[in-house]
Amino acid sequence: MSSKPQTSSSPNRTGRPVGIASIGLHLPPLAMPVEELAKLRGQDPKKYTIGLGCREMALCPDDYGAVELAAEAAKRALARWGGDLSSIGLIAVGTESAVDMSRPLSAWVAEELGLSGAVRSYEVKHACYGGTLALRQAYEWKASGAAGEKAALVIATDVALYELGDPGEPTQGAGAVAMIVDDARIASMDPVSHPWSEPAFDFWRPVGESFPRVDGKFSLDCYKRAAEHCFAALAGDGDAEEMISELAAVCFHVPLPKMVKKAFLHVGERFGWDAERAEELFDLKVDPTMGWNRMCGNAYTASLWMSVAEALQGLAEGERLAAFSYGSGFGAEVQTFTAGPEAAAAAWAADVERDLASRRHVDAAGYERLRGVRLAVSA
Ligand code: CAA
Repeated sequence: MSSKPQTSSSPNRTGRPVGIASIGLHLPPLAMPVEELAKLRGQDPKKYTIGLGCREMALCPDDYGAVELAAEAAKRALARWGGDLSSIGLIAVGTESAVDMSRPLSAWVAEELGLSGAVRSYEVKHACYGGTLALRQAYEWKASGAAGEKAALVIATDVALYELGDPGEPTQGAGAVAMIVDDARIASMDPVSHPWSEPAFDFWRPVGESFPRVDGKFSLDCYKRAAEHCFAALAGDGDAEEMISELAAVCFHVPLPKMVKKAFLHVGERFGWDAERAEELFDLKVDPTMGWNRMCGNAYTASLWMSVAEALQGLAEGERLAAFSYGSGFGAEVQTFTAGPEAAAAAWAADVERDLASRRHVDAAGYERLRGVRLAVSA
């Protein structure tokens, strides 16, 4: 990697570089510990907790979905930002929980927010990578000067549900992260990022089908390969171990925590680190960024941004982190962020604390009711 961050050549009107000015998060009002699912599927709960590294799955009630999650996260980000709604010139929603083949999910969210007028409004789809693409586009729009004084509202929102009994079921989750791209009060974005894509069928959902088809083992191979290429590009001619050591955190898209660990250790192996050092770096730089993911499950597009939001908490101005995005199909990208003056206070952490404290836990029977399945054994 360029050992020094390359800051935007187009500073914002405040004189600060372009980046994240506000963050809002939202988790749905229900959750279930994976041990309850293990009861239903006749599995040893340790397979889910230790084997996959999962803890709880965030779940949506019937009247709740990607739109409601996105709108609430956006309202929280806007309230914290303090700017006027009329200053938003772009709303982009990354999701794979689209509700229409034509009308963008951003239109539903804009309606909820009362946002209309001279606003570019659209949805971005590339599996779990959609939120990252939306954020990069918003950043490039703002940094290019095309935005003028306007800011962008980027939202990553998803509800991840698998077919009953699918091996991916314990990794289910839901949530939304909204970010306002304007002056880099929370974090500036490096203008250079490192993408990698290869056409593949590792995880996909054909039109008209309710649940994804997943080749779980193949998706792990693709994810590892993408991480290897992206981190090699990030390291460039530099020393990869030194680069990772200097970062405050390394965030990943989290389909399931164990997948992240496998990918990170794979990257370490490719860089020639000894196994003990790779484990140590994982424990120091990666594992602490997945606390919220473990309480939420895989929220697809929102998953990486939950990890980034958690990792930014408390960072001193100038500290840096890397964020690796992966979306099946497949496309990936790694980028770096530098903490701004408002990272330390981490106002957005209150969103997660509030939602975790107020959500209701369902048991195995409650989950079956939610999924519309009759209990196998009646009392
Ligand atoms: N105690 C402890 N560990 C146990 C155990 C027990 N009793 N029983 C099993 N395990 C361990 C196994 O040893 C195994 O560990 P290793 O992987 O280290 O060998 C682990 O638990 C999992 O066991 P299996 O491999 O047998 O599990 P499985 O066949 O049921 O499937 C999976 C696991 C492939 C990860 C499956 O959960 C899956 O398909 N998940 C979805 C994968 C996924 O999300 N892919 C997409 C990635 S990207 C994305 O998020 C999609 C996107 O872009 C939208």
